[in-house]
Amino acid sequence: MFAQVAFCYRGTVNPADLAHADALPLHSRTPAAWARAVLADPIALLIDHAFLEKKAAANAMELLTRWPNDGVDGWVETMTSVARDETAHLAQVTRILMNRGGKLDRIHKNPYANSLRLLVRKGDPAEILDRLLVSALIEVRSCERFAVLAAESTDTELAAFYRGLYLSEFGHYKVFLALARKISKPAAMEARWQEMLAAEARILAGQAAGPRIHSGFLT
Ligand SMILES: [Fe+2]
Ligand SMILES: [Fe+2]
Repeated sequence: MFAQVAFCYRGTVNPADLAHADALPLHSRTPAAWARAVLADPIALLIDHAFLEKKAAANAMELLTRWPNDGVDGWVETMTSVARDETAHLAQVTRILMNRGGKLDRIHKNPYANSLRLLVRKGDPAEILDRLLVSALIEVRSCERFAVLAAESTDTELAAFYRGLYLSEFGHYKVFLALARKISKPAAMEARWQEMLAAEARILAGQAAGPRIHSGFLT
């Protein structure tokens, strides 16, 4: 039964291996220098990160209610489980932020995610496929970024935090992709996924530098 799919990857994978090995299909790799640069401003990084977790939870809830009865086995279970995981991540990151004297801002901009959303074709069934693939893209890139952060952080609390997250986001990437495979013909899904992966690398490369999870490489 699909609901039994593991949302958190349970294997034992070294963060550095996951970030740099062929385990991830990303078309670009984040250099260690990016992590060292963004970790220089941990409060700003945590604030940005908190908004990403909130958005990830809201995205799962939006997908749940947008296509609640389309007969996709595991749809409701997946979306509620992902939303639960992302809300737990939000609680973790805000606790770390507050303990360090940081506060959430009212406004958050995420040009990376906004650009990815522009890839979504309107109108079913392409829209539902693209929404799932964009969700998978954000998860797999976040997974890679958390792995690099875990490997490079000299702050033991943050290193452990990021290590815990990269496995969870890896599980989310896999489960969104599994749903995409259920609703689409394999060849069409794979072709669209490859287009999306290439577009993601271009979009990320065009992002400005700065202490954000999805910032550009040049910091
Ligand atoms: Fe998360
Ligand atoms: Fe996630």
